[in-house]
Amino acid sequence: MTGRLVIAIDGHSAAGKGTLARRLAAHFRLPHLDTGLLYRAVGLGAEKSGRPAGEIAAALRPSDLADPDLRTDLAGQAASRVAALPEVRDNLLNFQKKFASQASGAVLDGRDIGTVICPDAPVKLFVTASSEARAERRYQELRERGVDTIKPRVLAEMAERDRRDSERAAAPLRAAPDAFLLDTSDMDADAAFAAALAFIERKGFRSSGP
Ligand code: DC
Repeated sequence: MTGRLVIAIDGHSAAGKGTLARRLAAHFRLPHLDTGLLYRAVGLGAEKSGRPAGEIAAALRPSDLADPDLRTDLAGQAASRVAALPEVRDNLLNFQKKFASQASGAVLDGRDIGTVICPDAPVKLFVTASSEARAERRYQELRERGVDTIKPRVLAEMAERDRRDSERAAAPLRAAPDAFLLDTSDMDADAAFAAALAFIERKGFRSSGP
């Protein structure tokens, strides 16, 4: 291995970052942080309690991330709104930086990992896909969970979230200049993993496992 491996993964919602992050973490035996969960916990917490989002972010504990409600679309929309607030982002910064600085290395996925949280990460991936491909995936995922929805609504909500995440002033969604761009529109999870792994191995990192 060439030093400590930190894999910073950013990209649009439903582009396949989460699956890719989990698979890379398992392959390289690294701890993984889905940073979207932090914003989901703050967004949902603010909605439920009526307390200021910045205050909730400051008091967030790792155990707050286990709530199954954080996976809902409602939590995703609430997350995207509070994620635009600088006081929320500032209060979540140290937790994420500490996670990334573990001696073991780490995998983090989110929207500003390669640009703000880990600008020095040796591996940065930016995962995207066409709006149609992402909406189709999200639609299927919702149907599997028994959520009654229609495709045009999924597409519209996704477009709204993309716009908010990309246009906000505080740490907007951007590919770092040195990120490997992975367009998964025509890839399944195996193909996306293989492409990411090939890039990481070209950088000299190999799994130490059997
Ligand atoms: O990845 P996700 O869908 O769980 O993220 C939910 C929202 O949180 C997303 O719309 C934007 C915000 N987010 C962010 O601003 N920065 C991150 N590092 C992760 C998520």
